[in-house]
Amino acid sequence: MSGWTGFQAGLAAQTGSNTGAHQDGSREQLRLTRPTGRQTGSQAGWTDTQAGWTGVQAGRTGPQADRSRRAVRQYRRPDLQRHLADVCSSWSGRNFALQGVSAAPVNAPNTPAETSEMAGAETSATAGAPGRWSLHGKTALVTGGTRGIGRVVVEELAALGAAVHTCSRKEAELAERLKEWEAKGFRVTVSVCDLSVREQRERLVRDAGDRFGSKLDILVNNAGTNRKKPTTEYSAEDYSFVMATNLESAYHLCQLAHPLLKASGSGNIVLITSIAGIVALNGGTIYAMTKGAMNQLTKNLACEWAKDNIRTNSVAPGYIFTSLVERLLANKEFEASVVGRTPLRRLGEPSEVSSLVAFLCMPGSTYITGQTISVDGVQTAPCVVTGRRVNWPV
Ligand SMILES: NC(=O)c1ccc[n+]([C@@H]2O[C@H](COP(=O)([O-])OP(=O)(O)OC[C@H]3O[C@@H](n4cnc5c(N)ncnc54)[C@H](OP(=O)(O)O)[C@@H]3O)[C@@H](O)[C@H]2O)c1
Repeated sequence: MSGWTGFQAGLAAQTGSNTGAHQDGSREQLRLTRPTGRQTGSQAGWTDTQAGWTGVQAGRTGPQADRSRRAVRQYRRPDLQRHLADVCSSWSGRNFALQGVSAAPVNAPNTPAETSEMAGAETSATAGAPGRWSLHGKTALVTGGTRGIGRVVVEELAALGAAVHTCSRKEAELAERLKEWEAKGFRVTVSVCDLSVREQRERLVRDAGDRFGSKLDILVNNAGTNRKKPTTEYSAEDYSFVMATNLESAYHLCQLAHPLLKASGSGNIVLITSIAGIVALNGGTIYAMTKGAMNQLTKNLACEWAKDNIRTNSVAPGYIFTSLVERLLANKEFEASVVGRTPLRRLGEPSEVSSLVAFLCMPGSTYITGQTISVDGVQTAPCVVTGRRVNWPV
């Protein structure tokens, strides 16, 4: 099917006819005119064009209809129409003009919320837009930035242009890192903070707020700890220590940072969880519980704070070479067993986690929220490796 013919056919299939009446009786007309050229083009062009119109054609009553009208208004903007026409012409090799019309009055003004929504759509949804793959001008609070994954996250975000505030419990190690970061020209500041203590978390967010003018673009809840024992051997102190450091601190920091993230206009939370919160690994039950709960927290906050334009995602690493697992991996038999059940046949590096964290904070990922994404060399995907099924728990 040619792109143009397909476009019309698809439109007709979804609207009843190309200019047809809708279920609610309104006449919502979607017109595409093609001033020049033959009505030909690629199927791919049609598919993508159709995707561009999803919001316009989606449901015709209730909230869906409202969204639909907002989308039509968005595409009524001359600059976006030009952009869509350009994109379409590059897909189909033909030039056509877009004249989207909805049941809404043609000159209905946009509400302030719609205007800001449209501005966001323009900067994020436009391929090649300046700033799409950059963090210039952004501010970030990253917990546990002195070692392992957190350290590389701090460096990744700073190298991409963000000003970063980080923390750990050890003043001397923070000072050492700070010297290195200054030498690299990174804009990083630090606080000594034990995240398992409520008052210290409050002070940390106050510090970050003071530094960044009561606004924050990015919160990365990275710091975490583990005590690996058989479940029957855990003490009450083990339980409260791991819970407070991993789960309670992440939850409380999100709470504390909410007004700052909201004030930024487009906030981003990334929780560093673990594949231990997705599948059952042997040992570390409390740790796994905290990580599973953090994955759920991600979904809840993504829904609850979407209205504040705050996105929340989790990054769930598999085994990554850091001080957290150094002792575990010193046992070569254990390391071989982990590698043996990893289809990519190796452990991960902190920089393979930080790249995803950075992506999730960029304008290029503005429609991704509420997700838990594993960085694990495909350990968590059920698959057959060299003829045998990978079984959990191992
Ligand atoms: N490495 C892995 O294989 C792996 C796999 C899955 C998930 N993860 C997760 O990734 C995150 C980072 O782990 P990592 O491997 O990079 O750990 P790491 O090498 O042990 O580094 C942890 C960082 O967090 C800080 N930290 C720990 N407890 C803290 C507290 N109570 N208050 C303030 N800072 C604290 C540490 O500094 P101080 O100790 O000096 O305070 C350090 O800067 C954790 O959430 C972990 O669960 C790691």
